[in-house]
Amino acid sequence: MTEEKDTLTFAKRLKYSTLASHDSVDTLVMQSEPFANEENYIKFLRVQHIFHLSVAPLYHQPDLQTLLSGLAELPRLFAVESDLADLGLTLNVDKKDVACIDHLYEAIGWLYCSEGSNIGAAFLYKETQKLNFDAHRGARHLSAHVDGRAPHWRKFVAQLDALNLTDEQTDQAVKGAVDAFDFYKKTLKRIF
Ligand code: HEM
Repeated sequence: MTEEKDTLTFAKRLKYSTLASHDSVDTLVMQSEPFANEENYIKFLRVQHIFHLSVAPLYHQPDLQTLLSGLAELPRLFAVESDLADLGLTLNVDKKDVACIDHLYEAIGWLYCSEGSNIGAAFLYKETQKLNFDAHRGARHLSAHVDGRAPHWRKFVAQLDALNLTDEQTDQAVKGAVDAFDFYKKTLKRIF
């Protein structure tokens, strides 16, 4: 990192504080070969389902909706569930495997992780074509936002940067983002 911590925008703080977490998740996902065959892809969908089940309530939380307008339109839980249904799979999940996020500023870090994951998903989406899945069947949740991945991400980053959080709130959000990546890793290791 070349910039001083204090001069970083909030979104950059989140990014640089989770670089190692992101790299390890990226490596773990690739090592699990999610697109090698349908069996592996189903496991990957299960991981995504549990992650999106965990963050879904945050998109509907009134305080978070006030802070981040348009939030209610973004959750991808329904898309993941449709992908599972496309493959004839049940939506059953053990409640104890789903994360419960009840801290407002930590939740912002979880939302950062969830929304950012759609940037790298461009690559993952492409890989699903090998299994004949696409935005209409099996890989809906990895498809781009209607505004396009990059414009949507830039808009979300601008919203994060406009929040004007205190140092303490920022630290709590960073903790939430790190926790989100840790949770993803833990879930991935358990399912694969
Ligand atoms: C093999 C799996 C993955 C690959 C190849 C991948 C790749 C990428 C790439 C290329 C970017 C853009 C980086 C940039 O513009 O600087 C990105 C961003 C991001 N990804 Fe992933 N990703 C993967 C999985 C995930 C997962 C599972 C999550 C969350 C659970 C995630 C969360 C994020 C976040 C939060 C960002 C935004 C980083 C920022 O602040 O700019 N990624 N990813």
